[in-house]
Amino acid sequence: MEKLKIAGGYPLKGSIRVSGAKNSAVALIPATILADSPVTIEGLPDISDVQTLQALMEEIGGQVRFEDGEMTVDPRQMVSMPLPNGRVKKLRASYYLMGAMLGKFKKAVIGLPGGCHLGPRPIDQHIKGFEALGAKVTNEQGAIYLRADELKGARIYLDVVSVGATINIMLAAVLAKGRTVIENAAKEPEIIDVATLLTNMGAKIKGAGTDIIRIDGVEHLHGCRHTIIPDRIEAGTFMILAAAVGEGILIDNVIPQHLESVTAKLREAGVQIEVADDQMFVSRGEGLKAVDIKTLVYPGFPTDLQQPFTSLLTRANGSSIVTDTIYGARFKHIDELRRMNGKIKVEGRSAIIDGSVQLQGAKVKASDLRAGAALVIAGLMAEGVTEVTGLEHIDRGYSHLVEKLSGLGATIWREKMTQEEVEQLKS
Ligand code: EPU
Repeated sequence: MEKLKIAGGYPLKGSIRVSGAKNSAVALIPATILADSPVTIEGLPDISDVQTLQALMEEIGGQVRFEDGEMTVDPRQMVSMPLPNGRVKKLRASYYLMGAMLGKFKKAVIGLPGGCHLGPRPIDQHIKGFEALGAKVTNEQGAIYLRADELKGARIYLDVVSVGATINIMLAAVLAKGRTVIENAAKEPEIIDVATLLTNMGAKIKGAGTDIIRIDGVEHLHGCRHTIIPDRIEAGTFMILAAAVGEGILIDNVIPQHLESVTAKLREAGVQIEVADDQMFVSRGEGLKAVDIKTLVYPGFPTDLQQPFTSLLTRANGSSIVTDTIYGARFKHIDELRRMNGKIKVEGRSAIIDGSVQLQGAKVKASDLRAGAALVIAGLMAEGVTEVTGLEHIDRGYSHLVEKLSGLGATIWREKMTQEEVEQLKS
C-alpha cells in the first residue's frame, strides 16, 4: 500500500494534459458487448476502473488488446457469465454490465455495484427501465438477476434525472424490438459520447444530450472506432487547482463548453480564465472572493467538483456555502480538511466554509475519489507536508496524477506505507 506526500505552499505553473473521460470510459467499454465484431476505443485514461473493466470483459470471454490508451474489444466469444461477486464490486459503473448483457444476451447476473460511498445510491430507475423493456428483475443475495424472453421498446419516464439509468436503458434498448423513449433523461456529455459510439455501431438514437431520447431498436450492432471525450471533471479539478496555487497553468485537451458552470463560478470568485479552442489558461487571481455553490444536474455545477472547490474556498475572502443537491452526504472530506486547519461546518446538505485560513499539512485519508482530489489540492495549498492515504480511490479516476502535477513543479511523491501505518488505517 502507498501514501501520497505533498510539500505544499509553492506556486505551480506550466501545462497539464487532460485524459479521456472516466465516466464515459466506464460505459463505453461495457457497450462493446453489444457489437458482433471488434470495437476500438481511443484515448482511454490509464486508471484502475478501466483496468477492472478490461478484466471483466475478459472474464466473460472477450478478447481485449489495450495499449497506449487504445482498447480493442472483440466480443464474438462473449457469454452471459454470471458475475455475482468479485471485480464487479470494485466499481459502481459495473451496473452498465446489466444493460449491455441484458441487451445482448437477454440475461445477466451482476453483483450490486461498489464505488464511492457518497450516501445512498439506489439503482431503482435503472431497474424500472429494464422492467419496462420486458425484463424480469430480482435481487437475490446481493446480486441482480435479469432475464427476458425478448426486449420490447417502451416509454420510460425517469423519476430522478440519472446519468447511470439513462445510459443503462440506452444500452438495453438499442437491440430491443421497436421504439424506446426515455423521458426526463440526463443530459451529461458522457451520455452523448456513449450514444455516439452506439450510433457508430449501427444503433438508431436521437436526442442524446436533451431530456428526451428516442431509440429505434436494430437487429445487430457492428464494430467501429471511437475516440473518447476529454474528462471534464479532471479538467475542472485542474482548473480549481490552478485557481488555488497556479501562477498561470495551461490546461490542454478540454471541451470548454462542458465546463461553463465551473468557469462561471471561478470567474465569480475572481479567478482569471482564458478560453481557447480546446485549452484553458487559468491563473490564481489576487484576493479570492467567497462564492456559494449549489450542485445540479448538467449543465449545472457538477457534484463531482464540489469537494475540490471546497478546498479552494478555505482561502476565500469571507464565508462560502456549498450545497450538494445530488449527494447530500458527500462531505467526508470535510473532517480531513478540518485536520488541516480548515474552518468548515456541515449543516444538512451544505458545508459552510470560513475563508481566509491558512491550511496546514496533516495526515489525511481520501474516503472517495473526489475527496482525494480535494485533499491533494488542499495539500498543495497547505504549509508543510501533507500525507494522503486511500490512494486506491484516487487511482480509480485520475490518470498519472503524481507525474502530471510534478510536471507543473509540485513536490509530490508516492511512498510505501509501513506495516504499522497499514494496520492503523484498517483499525
Ligand atoms: N438515483 C436514484 N435512483 C437511481 C439512480 C440515481 O435515486 O436509480 C439518484 C442518486 O442517488 C443521486 C442522483 O439520482 O442522488 C443522481 O445519480 P446518477 O444516477 O446520475 O449518478 P450515477 O450515474 O450513479 C454518475 C457518475 C458520478 C456522478 C453522478 C452525478 C459515473 C460512473 N458516475 O453516477 O461520478 O457523481 O453521475 O453526476 O458516471 C465520480 O466521478 O466521482 C462520480 C461519483
